[in-house]
Amino acid sequence: MCGISGYVGNGNAPEILFDMLKKLEYRGYDSAGIAYITGDGTIHLPKDKGKVDEVRRKLRPERLKSTIGVGHTRWATHGAPSQVNAHPHADCSGEIVVAHNGIIENYVDLKSELSELGHKFKSETDTEVIAHLVEHYMASEKSVLSALEKTLERLKGSFAITVITSREPDKIFIARNESPMLVGLGVGENFIASDAPAFLSKTKKALILEDMDYGFVSKKTVVIKNLSTRKEVKKKVHKITWGASEAEKEGFQHFMLKEIHEEPNAARNALSAEKELEEIAGKLAKKTRICFVACGTAYHAGLVGKYILENYGIPAEAFVASEFRYSTVETMDDKTGVVSITQSGETADTIAAIKGAKKKDAYIASIVNVVGSSVTRISDDVAYIRAGPEIAVASTKAYIGQVLSCTLLSLLVARAKGRISAHEFEHLKSELKNIPRKIKEAVENRRINEIAEENASTKKFFFIGRNINYPTALEGALKLKEISYVHAEGYPAGELKHGPIAILDQDTTVLAITAEGKLRDKMHSNIQEAKARGAKVITVGFECDLDVPKTDPLLSPILNIVPLHMLAYYISVLKGLDPDKPRNLAKSVTVE
Ligand code: F6R
Repeated sequence: MCGISGYVGNGNAPEILFDMLKKLEYRGYDSAGIAYITGDGTIHLPKDKGKVDEVRRKLRPERLKSTIGVGHTRWATHGAPSQVNAHPHADCSGEIVVAHNGIIENYVDLKSELSELGHKFKSETDTEVIAHLVEHYMASEKSVLSALEKTLERLKGSFAITVITSREPDKIFIARNESPMLVGLGVGENFIASDAPAFLSKTKKALILEDMDYGFVSKKTVVIKNLSTRKEVKKKVHKITWGASEAEKEGFQHFMLKEIHEEPNAARNALSAEKELEEIAGKLAKKTRICFVACGTAYHAGLVGKYILENYGIPAEAFVASEFRYSTVETMDDKTGVVSITQSGETADTIAAIKGAKKKDAYIASIVNVVGSSVTRISDDVAYIRAGPEIAVASTKAYIGQVLSCTLLSLLVARAKGRISAHEFEHLKSELKNIPRKIKEAVENRRINEIAEENASTKKFFFIGRNINYPTALEGALKLKEISYVHAEGYPAGELKHGPIAILDQDTTVLAITAEGKLRDKMHSNIQEAKARGAKVITVGFECDLDVPKTDPLLSPILNIVPLHMLAYYISVLKGLDPDKPRNLAKSVTVE
């Protein structure tokens, strides 16, 4: 998500910064910009929405000479792609400029506090508060570094930050928490980037910043401290041995694997949309009918939402958009709330479904990843999952964001309707906060690799689950078939005996998704039925073959899918396929 570049040395900074941004294009972005200081101490801030080359051609920053600056490619999370929302962002005086990758979760509170103190904001971004906070603390602090320290103490969320200022024009100030940042060490020049490919043609020596590291970089010096001690940390110099394309994937073999490892962060970011979801929930609670509408993986997230609402006695339905748009849409009215779910926000069937429902006066709320996409413009309200750009065709981290958002939204509707006790709501909300850590544990389970090896040549797979984990079964099967090209069916476990059990035999592997709760014993009976037909059964869940940490049964779909994403990935790789680019599939299905 977003790309950061920084340069200080003897070369022409504007040219170098744009060259570096070009190397970070694979990260996905909608806007590009740089900030650099010229000899007279002025900061220049050319930026716009569009491709790096277009912005560069239009603004021609290299006309002016400068030896220090920062650059940024933005992938919108707060505020649509536009010139004003593009980074870097300046404070009121224009003397402090900030570029940022990540999400400042408490930016709304900080913005109102700073506005009361007279600060004027130009953009809709969360990032701009950082520039104003540094400005605020510079009034009382002796150095930019101590103003930055004070600023970091106030920030909640994830960030990789670069700051330049005419007050100390020979330094780039930097900080990191949960978003990547590296310093490339040159001779008489230094580089800063979110990822090594940005500077690999200039140097292979790099420092890797850890959480809460901060400091500054000048032509010949790099000073890194850590906020926990405020003391300087001696950083190991890493020699980068990867080629540029491996470095793009941060050392992972594929984007899909990298994105699975980003699932904990995707969960954390989705939780940051609670305010938006609460507003939507208040409106949905007044409707007599709630329908989730989406395609593919996103539809499975909607199904989870439906089961949670039903758990609290609230009627709910989930529809595949391509079916909904030609029949159910006719039954829409102003008493219906439609929740569309879409990563891209550009899926043709989803767009048609919500346009049709809107014509019939239904209320449209959408859970979306791509800010400013078509669905966001059609919807009455939007909650963003903020999973960052998803490059692999098969959706993984966006699904985690979608399931988590649908879960939280449904709990908020139940609360607005008085169907959940305050105690239960608080218990689930605090358990949701543990979910990112538990996803991380699930991702790190090495047993998945072994199970993939044992099953790589299996021809028939069944994924079975009940109730809220029935969507997990559908999603596990979809992921395996789309990237491994093997036959995999997702089924409600109780339906097996109504037909499909006839094809179970010793050449079949059954993935049985379990959860604590009222249906656990029934699931065990279904497992016995499958075993009795000679099928190999792999259990998925807490204390299972594909093991995940314990959580509340209502939240189990968020954890249970993680080993299934990994399993699909490993099987695809073992088959010698490219999981990032499965045949016949497109990332965004913009045609019917
Ligand atoms: C499967 C997958 C697809 C998408 C579907 C909807 O891994 O990614 O099934 O979920 O095409 O796409 P969005 O969410 O962009 O509407």
